[in-house]
Amino acid sequence: MNLVFLGPPGAGKGTIASEAKNYFGIPHISTGDLFRSHIKGHTDLGKQVKVILAAGDLVPDSITIEMVKQRFLESDAQNGFILDGFPRTIAQADALSEMKALDAVVNFVLDRDQIVKRLSGRRVCKSTGKTYHIHYNPPKVEGIDDETGEPLIQREDDKPEAILNRLSVYEEQTEPLIAYYREKGLLVDIDASPAPEKVFAALIKTVQK
Ligand code: AP5
Repeated sequence: MNLVFLGPPGAGKGTIASEAKNYFGIPHISTGDLFRSHIKGHTDLGKQVKVILAAGDLVPDSITIEMVKQRFLESDAQNGFILDGFPRTIAQADALSEMKALDAVVNFVLDRDQIVKRLSGRRVCKSTGKTYHIHYNPPKVEGIDDETGEPLIQREDDKPEAILNRLSVYEEQTEPLIAYYREKGLLVDIDASPAPEKVFAALIKTVQK
């Protein structure tokens, strides 16, 4: 199963992908996670993209496409994948169509107020990447990761100014992909507003159709 998760920042793509990868037995390939792991590892790529991510801008297409190409060469990506956060521009979508055939593009639909609430309340564990929300999915002990006991952090790009920039970048550069994939007959819309279990159940039902 070759799936793309499309949708605005904070719509819950990563949350649902972390369940769906086990259900379908395919890897969750998040370009945001790949960039963050380069930043954490202080690689050359990480140094190049750190400021771009913090501001909520897009990394240039050439860099992003090459990173995804390399990720597709790994053995776990040979029998399917969930791509989360890629493609984000028409140029990336054109490049992807030359790399892989897709089964479906799942568009997570959520209104702006909910997006801002989800992003501003998100907290993450820096070492494992596990995601929480201060209201919707709090840790057992406030501010502490359930598994590692480490303090949770707020992503640089979840601060108010970066959130607003990410939303305009999404509207200008990524939203056109909805029409792009609808025309190809690949797009399925999912209401991302209910609780994660319900969104996940809707995803399974839709994709299995
Ligand atoms: P990336 O990491 O992909 O960020 P994003 O698309 O903005 O997505 P998010 O991770 O913010 O949101 P999500 O939809 O996964 O939501 P989540 O599940 O965490 O990209 C980061 C940056 O990397 C970009 O800005 C760019 O700079 C760069 N980049 C990445 N890909 C690129 C590309 N292709 N080209 C160029 N640059 C690229 O959920 C959010 C919160 O809501 C959490 O707290 C969660 O607990 C909560 N939540 C989730 N679902 C629910 C629910 N159903 N009900 C209540 N709360 C929920």
